[in-house]
Amino acid sequence: MTQVPPLVRTPRFVQLHHDDHAAVRAELASGLQASAAYTSPKYLYDALGSRLFEAITELPEYYPTRTEASIFARDASEMAARIPQGLTLVDLGAGNCQKAARLFDVLRPARYVAVDISVAFLRGALLSLQRQHPALDMVGVGMDFSTTLTLPPPAGEGPRLVFYPGSSIGNFTPAEALTFLRQARQTAQGGGLLIGVDLVKPVSVLAPAYDDALGVTAAFNRNMLLHINRLLGSDFDVSQWRHRALFNARQARIEMHLDAMQDVTVRWPGAQRHFKQGESIHTENSYKYTLQQFEALLREAGFSQVTPWRDAQDWFAVFLARAGS
Ligand code: AVJ
Repeated sequence: MTQVPPLVRTPRFVQLHHDDHAAVRAELASGLQASAAYTSPKYLYDALGSRLFEAITELPEYYPTRTEASIFARDASEMAARIPQGLTLVDLGAGNCQKAARLFDVLRPARYVAVDISVAFLRGALLSLQRQHPALDMVGVGMDFSTTLTLPPPAGEGPRLVFYPGSSIGNFTPAEALTFLRQARQTAQGGGLLIGVDLVKPVSVLAPAYDDALGVTAAFNRNMLLHINRLLGSDFDVSQWRHRALFNARQARIEMHLDAMQDVTVRWPGAQRHFKQGESIHTENSYKYTLQQFEALLREAGFSQVTPWRDAQDWFAVFLARAGS
């Protein structure tokens, strides 16, 4: 007699197109050639950069990750009471999928759509999660959601809860954040948004979070040059560049820069750039909001019934908002 395999669900995977190498090189070159040189913070995340970021989240100075986790640990059931069960949970920047997985038991979604830049990162995580949650329909989507939030068909019909934790919204300017939130509202299909936001706070707390005593954030920032060398074929010498982080109070953002410690010429196929000693490359912005500012941004993006939860020190907030329809 033939064995009938048990009926088990298995995750589905979709990879939307990647930026081609020529486009990546052109983007990098134009930022490096600008009079005030800059790069996109997405280039912080190669394999080593992603590991260094994970290490950052363990640092005593880096409060956002553990503060957000404490808010979810305390208030997830109160959040869940305002969210209908059986919707599709869309996890933006899912990575190892752990933050969302901790919410499955309270949120009881019917489908989990994990979105990250590369579907390869999601494979292992989703396969092991599926074993722990055999009834949950799981989809892994590889796409750059910072350019479009239109999900491919396996993400399904019906209302969605868009989950965007970690305060990654802070990498956008407020104007870009508004555009992104409007797209998130469309993507929610009448459901809602659950988002983590880092709040304005004293510089004495903000500055060390982005310039830790162990130098992990410095390594994370400087490692971008190694990543760029591989992408662009450039010859950055990491030892010539110093990490600098500052709080720009006027724009309510942490800025990360790499400063040339001496005169440097960087060469890559077809071009070069000379940096004078002290000249810098702006590598990241991390915007901080007040509760009122972010609530106003959500309303401007068309959300309603905006509810924030925050920690006792008002360092971090998790907002739930209704997308209407
Ligand atoms: C992943 C964008 C939320 O801005 O705090 C951490 C990235 N940069 N340390 C942040 C980051 C330096 C992080 N986000």
